[in-house]
Amino acid sequence: MSGSREQFGSKLGFILAAAGSAVGIGNLVGFPVGAAKNGGGAFLLIYAIFVAFICLPVMLAEMSVGRSSQKDPLGAYTTLSGGHRGWRTAGWLSIVTPFMIAVFYSVITVWIFGYLFESVTGNLDLLAQPETFGNFITGGSIFIYMAGVIAIMYLILQGGVKQGIEKAAKVLMPSLFFMLIALVLFVLTRDNAMAGVEFYLIPDFDKIDAAVVNGALSQAFFSLSLGMGIMITYGSYIDSKADIPGSAKLVALTDTAVAFTAGLMILPAIFSFNPQINPEDLSESSVSMIFSFLPQIFLELQTSIGYVGASAVASIFFLLVFFAAITSLVSIFEVPVSALMSEKGMQRKPALLLCGLLLVILSAMCALSFGFVDFFTHFMTYANTEKSFFDVVYDVFYDTILPLNGFLICIFVMYRWKKSNFNRELDSGAPKFKKSLFERYVNFSVGTFIPVLLLAIFINTVADKYFGFAILG
Ligand code: PHE
Repeated sequence: MSGSREQFGSKLGFILAAAGSAVGIGNLVGFPVGAAKNGGGAFLLIYAIFVAFICLPVMLAEMSVGRSSQKDPLGAYTTLSGGHRGWRTAGWLSIVTPFMIAVFYSVITVWIFGYLFESVTGNLDLLAQPETFGNFITGGSIFIYMAGVIAIMYLILQGGVKQGIEKAAKVLMPSLFFMLIALVLFVLTRDNAMAGVEFYLIPDFDKIDAAVVNGALSQAFFSLSLGMGIMITYGSYIDSKADIPGSAKLVALTDTAVAFTAGLMILPAIFSFNPQINPEDLSESSVSMIFSFLPQIFLELQTSIGYVGASAVASIFFLLVFFAAITSLVSIFEVPVSALMSEKGMQRKPALLLCGLLLVILSAMCALSFGFVDFFTHFMTYANTEKSFFDVVYDVFYDTILPLNGFLICIFVMYRWKKSNFNRELDSGAPKFKKSLFERYVNFSVGTFIPVLLLAIFINTVADKYFGFAILG
């Protein structure tokens, strides 16, 4: 163990930083709409079961590997496998995946930052027009906002783990909770809000089929920032006295609570704006929801609270989503940065600059794939669908590789690193966990059905996405 490794300063700091990673755009918009369309309370139930019984054990596996090795994911796989080449490849995958997810996630964060700026400066009426989003993402101002987002990320990350990531999480996360609650309270007092609550919560088990179950698991997995090397990296910044099971439970609970609460903001807002809405018309894509649909809803508020009031509500919403996005972006970007520092012995700032430069180039390629440049816009075709560069990055790294990384960490922990080491790591700092029912469950599940399920999802996604042949519906 290297004595000089950076560490989180407190248990709360670690939990807030990990929760900051987990709470992201997916929680605030993707989850509520996905839940409402796919069976309401029934979806929520399935989602909660997946979080507790599948995702939480995987999070424990990732955090333990990080803490035991005190290394980035590549270093962790290498050290704990005794330098095995195959496992080193898995380590590489855990560095490349987060980097590429950071690429597309940063583009969406840049758009949010732009919309935040526009609503604060009084341009909500412009944002509410249908053609604005298309013009916005193909306009040159995108690059100014990109510079802003990269600068904020740099400012946070150059401070390191304690003075940067932890400090930012301690300010941004409480502000996020506060803004979320304030918006929920505001929205619930609007006319017809209860129709949205009902639509969100009343269970409809008929809607549950294989595709919905698969979607719920993927959503839970992504939402808890698993398969991205993040929890390995953050786990490497805590010491042997930290309680991994207790912290992981709190992170999962916070993430799920925020996703659930966000539903009490988004759906009542939609229903109070348009009581006759046909639920089938709700787009499941977070992107069209945030950038095309919600600005119209905010603008509609001007009849009751005036244009300034409506702009204030929109600004709070975009600030909330921006905080959620930036804490996730910081966590995912820290993975390649920490790998450069520990694998190549670089200092933090040069490592940040190198990764930052690569990120700018690849994000610009993504940003240019919305009609700016033909080559990136019509990048390639698979399963008879034409894909832009942005789509390819999204499909490959977000949709396909995450469950594969989850499968690999489970197999690694139980069959290479071995159960006894895993348990020793979990028990250190958490004496009550030792020999508990939950520990036995974690051992059993991580060694058996969780990797099988994740592998099945991976195979199904590959068949479906790239060959147009879905096995699981
Ligand atoms: N949990 C995040 C979300 O819901 C996922 C994520 C984490 C994405 C880190 C990017 C970076 O949006």
